[in-house]
Amino acid sequence: TGYFTYDPGFTSTGSCESAITYIDGDEGVLLHRGYAIDELAKNSTFPEVCFLLLNGHLPTAAESTEFDVILRRHSMVHEQLTKFYSGFRRDAHPMAIMCGVVGALSAFYHDSTDIEDPVERKIAAHRLIAKMPTIAAMAYKYSVGQPFMYPRNDLTYAENFLYMTFGTPCEPYKVNPILSKAMDKIFILHADHEQNASTSTVRLAGSSGANPFACIAAGIASLWGPAHGGANEAVLKMLEEIGSVDRIPEIVRRAKDKNDNFRLMGFGHRVYKNYDPRAQVMRETCHEVLAELGIKNEPLLDIAMELEKIALSDPYFVEKKLYPNVDFYSGIILKAMGFPTSMFTVLFALARTVGWISQWKEMIEDPVQKIGRPRQLFTGENKRPFVPLNERG
Ligand code: CMC
Repeated sequence: TGYFTYDPGFTSTGSCESAITYIDGDEGVLLHRGYAIDELAKNSTFPEVCFLLLNGHLPTAAESTEFDVILRRHSMVHEQLTKFYSGFRRDAHPMAIMCGVVGALSAFYHDSTDIEDPVERKIAAHRLIAKMPTIAAMAYKYSVGQPFMYPRNDLTYAENFLYMTFGTPCEPYKVNPILSKAMDKIFILHADHEQNASTSTVRLAGSSGANPFACIAAGIASLWGPAHGGANEAVLKMLEEIGSVDRIPEIVRRAKDKNDNFRLMGFGHRVYKNYDPRAQVMRETCHEVLAELGIKNEPLLDIAMELEKIALSDPYFVEKKLYPNVDFYSGIILKAMGFPTSMFTVLFALARTVGWISQWKEMIEDPVQKIGRPRQLFTGENKRPFVPLNERG
């Protein structure tokens, strides 16, 4: 009943008003609260960008210090939460662990999370941003059988995450400023991206008034798919499968073949019909990290660069405006830093948490917000009489 438009995949449906992130897909522009992503990546820090997304302005020096103190204060997880990990098989995908453990946070903060109270909303946001590195690092530690590392509040956000991931009680991780900066940049590049699938999932889940920690777990589930955040993992697997530069033409041929489901992972975007500005920064960061680690010869980077060159000059990709996206170069950096492929999407989730919770907060505070309830075109049976079991043939 009533009039509605049919729009599978929501290609032309605006679901909300938002003042957080602006994308001009034709021009390849991405702004957070008016600031260009490349400027933020070059000049800012991830906690500053978190503050910006949540509050709408870059923090003053005093606000920045206060925000840092808040994030550090919330960086530990409840000791009881550590027990959740042992319920998972050792070989569980860390994204599966993330869905479970982050969802479990809702039980820890169930009573205190009154979404009508702006103070509680803010505390929920701070807790999530502060605890995600700890939860993500623990997912990694569990998979390799090493002890969990407690957060170190004397380190920066990115340094602390690397420490909790790669440090051990017998051999503490030595902070490398170049790698920490690269990690911080990767977090900035993934912080928000307006109404993508996972953010829309968080908003939809939250529109019923659900617990915000549970909503973020829903976002993590949506992010996991290879068409979304899981693409960074899929890119690296694809590059490894290609194996050598001379196999690229064959792969490009497959990507163009209508009868083949294969797609070039890390290429194309629903909104960008130009070079993804995040991919540009990611490519530069990739070169910086490989140089710092003394990796002169990375065959996967050679394959990626050649693939990009060939694809960008091929009429199929040019006509369809398929450019490298944020996921195309990130995997090479993360691999060089020592992360297993299965952790790539976890890092995306860690960084995107601030975007999700900022968008959730904006939705809850929007006076026109309603429960999300799409309509459908019904294609099933017309009304028919019930057939008793003994009469069904
Ligand atoms: N390789 C080959 N052909 C492609 C690709 C690709 N990567 N992406 C799109 N196409 C073709 C597609 O076959 C279609 O052709 P036709 O019009 O002849 O049917 C046309 O381009 C449009 O594709 P679409 O699937 O209708 O576009 P979409 O906006 O629904 O999908 C996308 C966007 C990102 C899901 C898609 O480009 C894709 O699957 N890319 C590979 C996965 C990937 O890298 N995802 C990460 C996205 S960025 C980070 C994030 O969102 O998390």
